[in-house]
Amino acid sequence: MKEKLEQILEKAMRELNHAFAIDEVDKLDILRVGFLGKKGELTSVLKQMGGLSAEERPVVGKLANDVREQIETKLSEVSAELKAQKVRKAMEDEKIDVTLPGKKRAIGRLHPLTAVMNEIEEIFLGMGFEVASGPEVEYVYYNFDALNSPPDHPARDITDTFYITDDILLRCHTSTVQVRVMETQKPPIRIISPGRVYRSDAVDATHSPIFHQIEGLYIDKGVTMSDLAGTLDELMKRLYGGDCKIRLRPHHFPFTEPSAEVDVMCFKCAGQGCSMCKQEGYIELLGAGMVHPKVLKNCGIDPEVYSGFAFGMGLDRVVMRRYGITDLRLLYENDVRFLGQF
Ligand code: DAH
Repeated sequence: MKEKLEQILEKAMRELNHAFAIDEVDKLDILRVGFLGKKGELTSVLKQMGGLSAEERPVVGKLANDVREQIETKLSEVSAELKAQKVRKAMEDEKIDVTLPGKKRAIGRLHPLTAVMNEIEEIFLGMGFEVASGPEVEYVYYNFDALNSPPDHPARDITDTFYITDDILLRCHTSTVQVRVMETQKPPIRIISPGRVYRSDAVDATHSPIFHQIEGLYIDKGVTMSDLAGTLDELMKRLYGGDCKIRLRPHHFPFTEPSAEVDVMCFKCAGQGCSMCKQEGYIELLGAGMVHPKVLKNCGIDPEVYSGFAFGMGLDRVVMRRYGITDLRLLYENDVRFLGQF
């Protein structure tokens, strides 16, 4: 029996010293049952102990226990080693190589019109203005009549403005919002109103039937032309840099008196005259003036008490000057190869 036990031990060690693959934990269990289980090899030897003499029994019994212990110890060693291997492999497999280049995701960006519009809004919000909006499909009243536009004004012509009915049109400027705001708010009023406007123009490098304006309006007691000049000067310095200069030229608009066209110093030649500014040194960017007393009256504001300035600026032009874009159509074609540059 002693020999039999030694054989079992020797066989168990041989088999357990074999290299196991990581996923062979099941095989270990089979071996455990084979050697130590109820029907295992060791048990079947022990069952024959009855046939031993009284002197032999304790000796064989002790040997049997030793064999069991050694097999158990070996089994748990192998099992622990398998578990450790498994952890090592997992760490190996899940290792992150931080030196690998990251995956680049294509990120969208704001259209230059939106980006500059946001920037201008921020500048005006900082000066205490609020952002107002109005409908693009508008009554003739808000687009022309309330703004003191004479009945024979050329812009009223159907060749210039898109009419929907005799009374309703697509607004041709954002000045409509001035009227809507003054009708509903009491001074002091400080608003800007960015938005889309429509004119019956053929498409070319500088014209589009849809474009964008930003209207500004400041009504309070004692507002003067110098407030207008100061506000626009600040705006342009913030947009184009600290040494940017503006120039006001007398002009005529029905809704302002006095009126001016406002030019910005050409940033390409700094006022010297070049091909970009057609040798002028300055580039026209907006119309402005002191709100006409008749317009104030039309909106229920007493011109004897209040005064104010207004301006209307072409956003598309500002964007084109800002980025040196020479063809307006590029802003509307939505070609990402173009838009991705900004
Ligand atoms: N509405 C004018 C246009 O579209 C621009 C303009 C000029 C707006 C003078 C104003 C202003 O508010 O005061 O050409």
